[in-house]
Amino acid sequence: MPLSSSSTSSSKSVRRAGSELERSDSITSQRFPGRRRSLIDDARKEREAAAAVAAVAAEAGEQIVFEEDDGRALVNLFFTLDSDKTHLLSRTLKVFETFEAKIHHLETRKAKDEAQSLEYFVRCEAPLSDVATLVASVKRNAQRVKTSQEVKFHWFPKKISDLDKCHHLITKYNPDLDPEHPGFTDPVYRERRQIVADIAFGYRHGDSIPRVKYTESEIATWREVYLTLRDLYSSHACSEYLDSFRLLEKHCGYGPDSVPQLEDISRFLKERSGFMLRPVAGLLSARDFLASLAFRVFQCTQYIRHGSSPMHSPEPDCIHELLGHVPMLADRTFAQFSQNLGLASLGASEEDIEKLSTLYWFTVEYGLCKQNGEVRAYGAGLLSSYGELLHSLSDEPEIREFQPEAAAAQPYQDQTYQPVYFVSESFADAKEKFRTFMAGIRRPFSIKFDPYTCSVEVLDDPGKIQGGLEKLKDELKTLSDALAVLS
Ligand SMILES: [Fe+2]
Repeated sequence: MPLSSSSTSSSKSVRRAGSELERSDSITSQRFPGRRRSLIDDARKEREAAAAVAAVAAEAGEQIVFEEDDGRALVNLFFTLDSDKTHLLSRTLKVFETFEAKIHHLETRKAKDEAQSLEYFVRCEAPLSDVATLVASVKRNAQRVKTSQEVKFHWFPKKISDLDKCHHLITKYNPDLDPEHPGFTDPVYRERRQIVADIAFGYRHGDSIPRVKYTESEIATWREVYLTLRDLYSSHACSEYLDSFRLLEKHCGYGPDSVPQLEDISRFLKERSGFMLRPVAGLLSARDFLASLAFRVFQCTQYIRHGSSPMHSPEPDCIHELLGHVPMLADRTFAQFSQNLGLASLGASEEDIEKLSTLYWFTVEYGLCKQNGEVRAYGAGLLSSYGELLHSLSDEPEIREFQPEAAAAQPYQDQTYQPVYFVSESFADAKEKFRTFMAGIRRPFSIKFDPYTCSVEVLDDPGKIQGGLEKLKDELKTLSDALAVLS
C-alpha cells in the first residue's frame, strides 16, 4: 500500500510516480498544489511534533513513564508519606480520584531511612493531558515523588485485530484538491474513487475483502500497464518475483483481461508466506503502515489510476500494489524481511520510524539484488515502473552495496528516478544485516511475534522469556530429531 506510489512512465521527462513512500497531504496540496509528500516526510513531521512535546515536558521537569493508548497514559509513581500525618494519605488518594485515575497496582513498604514514613508505588491510568497536573498534585502532599525510569513509547497494536485502529490518514491523497492529479477535472473518476474507498472504510479484520467490479476503462488501464511490464520482467526481475508471478497468473487471475481481486490474492499469499492483504482507503501514517507489516498484513489500495495516464500515477494504486508488491510478498524470505521491518517499528521512536521508512524505501520499494552474476530488481517501485526499471539497471545510477545504516540515512528522490540504489547479495543476506541494524534501535522492551495467535508479546518479565525459551526448546528438539532421521 501507501508508503509510495507507482509509476510506469517510459519517459524520464515524465515525473516518476513512486511507491507507497509517495503521498499527498491534503493540507499541503491546498497550499502547494502538486507537491507530493512521502512517507519519509510524514515520519519526519511526526518526529518534529514529538520533539516539540518532549521539549515542553523537559521544561516541566517531568520524566513520565507511560504507554499512550487512545489519549490515556499509564503512569508509575513512587512517593513517600509521613505515617504520622494520616490526612496526607487520604488527600493523596483524593488526587487520584479527582483525576479519575484508575489504579492498577498499589504497594507500600517502610521507608528505609525514616521509620515513621511509608514508601508508595502506584501504577495508574489517567488521561494523558492530566498526567503532569496529577503528578504535581501528588507532590503537594508527598515527599520524594518520582516517576520510574524515563521510558516513553507509543501505543502499538498487540494483536492483528488491533489493526482496525491503525487507520490514521495523516495524508490523504485527494484528486479534488490537487490540480495536477489526472482525475482533478473528472468528477466521474472522483466519485468512483469514493465508492472504492468506502469498501476499505467499512472493512474490519476477519471480513472477506469485497470484490470490485472494475469498469472496462479500468481494465483497459490495467491491461496496458500489465502487457508493457510483463515483457520486461524476464530480463529485469529477480527469480523470486518471476516464480511468484507465474503462480499468480495460474491461481489468482493475473492476466491482461481482468484486474485480480484482493480477496483471491490475500488467500494465495496466506498459503504461500502467511501474508494477508487489507484494503486501505487512503494514505496511512508511516507508523500505522509499518505496524501492519509486523502482523504480516499489507495495506493495499483497491482503486485504479486515472485512465488518461496509464503509465503514470502520482500515488500508489492497486496496479502498483499488485504488480510491484504482491509477487515479492509471496516469497517466504522476503516476507520475513518485511515482517522484521514492521516488528522493528512497534513502539519505536519517531526518529527510528523515519529511519525504517527510509530503509523501506531503498529495499521494499527500490531494492536491487544479485543473482547468478547479474543485478535484478525486487523493489515494488521498480517492478511497477517501466521507466525506472530500465533506469535502475542501466549504467546511469550509482549502485551501492546494501548496508542498512547507509540506506536508512540516504537522501531519497521522490520527484524523479533515484540516483542511488542499494544492491543486496541475497534476501537472506539483507535479513541478516537488518538483524544487526535492529540492535541499534533502542526500545525499552523486547517483543516476540506469536504466529499461533497473530499477536505480539512484550517480553517485560522473566516468566514470559522463560515461556519463549520452552517453546524454542520444543522447536529445537523437533529439528534435531529431523536431522537425526536424515542422518
Ligand atoms: Fe509501494
